[in-house]
Amino acid sequence: MQRLNGKETAKQIRTELKDKVNLRKQMGQKTPHLAAVLIGNDGGSLSYVTAKVKACEEIGFESTLIRYEDSISEDALLDKVHELNDDETIDGFIVQLPLPEHINEIKVTDTISPNKDVDGFHPMNLGNMMLNLPGFLPATPAGIIELIRRYNIETSGKHCVIIGRSNIVGTPLSMMLSRNSNPGNCTVTLAHSRTKNLKEICLQADILIAAIGKPNFVSADMVKENAVIIDVGTTRVDDASRERGWRLVGDVNFNEVSPKASFITPVPGGVGPMTIASLMMNTLKAMELNGK
Ligand code: GUN
Repeated sequence: MQRLNGKETAKQIRTELKDKVNLRKQMGQKTPHLAAVLIGNDGGSLSYVTAKVKACEEIGFESTLIRYEDSISEDALLDKVHELNDDETIDGFIVQLPLPEHINEIKVTDTISPNKDVDGFHPMNLGNMMLNLPGFLPATPAGIIELIRRYNIETSGKHCVIIGRSNIVGTPLSMMLSRNSNPGNCTVTLAHSRTKNLKEICLQADILIAAIGKPNFVSADMVKENAVIIDVGTTRVDDASRERGWRLVGDVNFNEVSPKASFITPVPGGVGPMTIASLMMNTLKAMELNGK
């Protein structure tokens, strides 16, 4: 069993990006600038956004964090999105999800300029992804693809089972892994809450990806010998033995499953850091695409 070390791989990517930014600085070119909008005080969202800002600092990107209370109106948020679209100093920005219930997530995502949509959530970017045209790829699926690429894991002709059909992970990942590219060319099964015989389907997977947010959902009896296991889950569970009172738990029962796996991502330190690294790659790309 080999661990897919997302933490180390993401660090390597940050170093590569830092070198590129330094080169740009030496040539008097613009530094990439990422803005992040965070609404409310959800602990998970706050730690993700904090990690994104920290990654910018490490690489030498500029970053701007914009915070609002949960009570912000949809109109006020949309005004801010328009302002960021028009702000020439900002190359890309994200609005951290989920949003409070009174705000329409689709409306907000659709208002972000596709050229600055470094999360790759805008319908234009999702459509381009489906057609294999240039655009921004959603950060988590792109991070998983990059991890697979850097570990030289063979995907062509493999059966990949993805559990979870979310708009930001499962559905886009099913397209990215099935298209004619490398990594890609998988035969993909997208399983979800209505799937029958889930265990039997998972047992057929050469590559099993869990993205449902249910701690330890994937047990050893669902996994084929030598399968590649990618765990996208990051649920906070209470843990009195930790000073902060919680720990992150993935969708895969790591201790049970890892002896059967050929490769497996840990939680934390697997997919999470790769998501942030992809966002950084998208931000540099946004600046270059916008001709700066
Ligand atoms: N919430 C969970 N993952 C993400 C992400 O990748 N981007 C944004 N904006 N919100 C998220």
